Amino acid sequence: MSIIKNPELYPLGLQKIEWVKRFMPVLNELERRYSDKKPLKGLRVSLCIHLEAKTAYLALLLRELGADVRATGSNPLSTKDEICAALNHLGIEVFAIHGATDEEYFEHIRKTLEFRPHIIIDDGGDFVEMLTNEPELAENLIGGCEETTTGIHRLRMRERNGTLNFPMIAVNDANCKHLFDNVHGTGQSVWDAIMFTTNNMVSGKTVVVAGYGFCSKGIANRAKGLGANVIVTEVNPYRALEAAMDGFRVMKMIDAAPLGDIFITATGCNDVINKQHYELMKDDCMIANAGHFDVEVNKVDLRALSVKYEESKPFIETYTLSTGKRINLLADGRLVNIVAGNGHPAEIMDLSFAIQTLCVLHLAKNGTKLENRLYDVPDEIDHDVAMIKLKAMGLGLDELTGEQKEYMGI
Ligand code: NAI
Repeated sequence: MSIIKNPELYPLGLQKIEWVKRFMPVLNELERRYSDKKPLKGLRVSLCIHLEAKTAYLALLLRELGADVRATGSNPLSTKDEICAALNHLGIEVFAIHGATDEEYFEHIRKTLEFRPHIIIDDGGDFVEMLTNEPELAENLIGGCEETTTGIHRLRMRERNGTLNFPMIAVNDANCKHLFDNVHGTGQSVWDAIMFTTNNMVSGKTVVVAGYGFCSKGIANRAKGLGANVIVTEVNPYRALEAAMDGFRVMKMIDAAPLGDIFITATGCNDVINKQHYELMKDDCMIANAGHFDVEVNKVDLRALSVKYEESKPFIETYTLSTGKRINLLADGRLVNIVAGNGHPAEIMDLSFAIQTLCVLHLAKNGTKLENRLYDVPDEIDHDVAMIKLKAMGLGLDELTGEQKEYMGI
């Protein structure tokens, strides 16, 4: 039986799911293509991924393709209770409550794994962590898919130290995932959440973006488009140069700290903004994080420096330092776009979740033949998803002639 906040919230959840379905043509196409064949019949699939409307459509699609599905959220603050209620209403077991404590969160993960899944979809690595520590939960596991960059880092570490006990597919690294979801999905939804939450101007402000990777590039470029003066901080020399040649000011965080009005981290690294930076920041500046874990903005340091902190508005905590300076932390330093906003646009998650769906089908067909390592998404899956999306968007694509292929050596 599901563990959710309130089953009666389902009508709003159903409405939201119906809305996103209209903007996810690739998933619609996969539903048309496979629902009669039921290629996942007899398989149990567990999902641990931000539980909101787009994810609900993914869960429903996997069930439509024949799987028995259980779901939990990958972050208690991104879980939408009305979506959990809608999935429960539609007969999918859900274990997730918005704002669950850490203890409850891991209990929800355990419940989702207790039905001994054949395939998992993970987002950040918490499923894999539990399946490794409690191997009896993995006794039927064929393999799984990982959604995000941080989860891939954790899997690579496991591969290196020999603790990856089942095959996993790096969904994040598919072209149809990180080139769109990380760049454009994060780019738009981070600003959507910050503008809605603060109700402040972006134009004319100095925005400091930590990182110039896929997500942070999207955030920096959207900030530029909104009229901000953008500073980028990096640790990678090539990406720092790329940012500079894309027209951004590049400097160390310690030098950017006194200049910024809005700071955003999206690095996957810890302690990016800490005590030494808070001491230099302007009064009433804003800090938000878009990286997977709430470790990029050092909250322990911020609390230690503060004489008080209080909620100024939903999702804005104002910390007052002993000097009287105020620092506003958005969404408790967690993924701002998902916790304080609506997450990525449906059109973007259409691509990411189409890759997920086809990788689940790939595991169902080939999983037992795979080794215990991290696999790339097969090229034909990436290509298939791109072609369906292009068609749905009505975009033309030239094709190489035989002669051109010969000239290009393809
Ligand atoms: P990426 O690896 O492409 O980019 C990270 C960049 O940060 C790299 O260029 C790296 O050199 C830089 N970096 C690392 N440590 C740094 C530091 N201390 N200071 C400054 N720069 C630093 O990774 P990607 O795909 O951009 O993902 C970043 C994070 O965002 C990950 O935790 C990922 O899981 C998460 N993510 C969040 C999403 C969201 O919806 N908010 C969506 C997708 C990914």
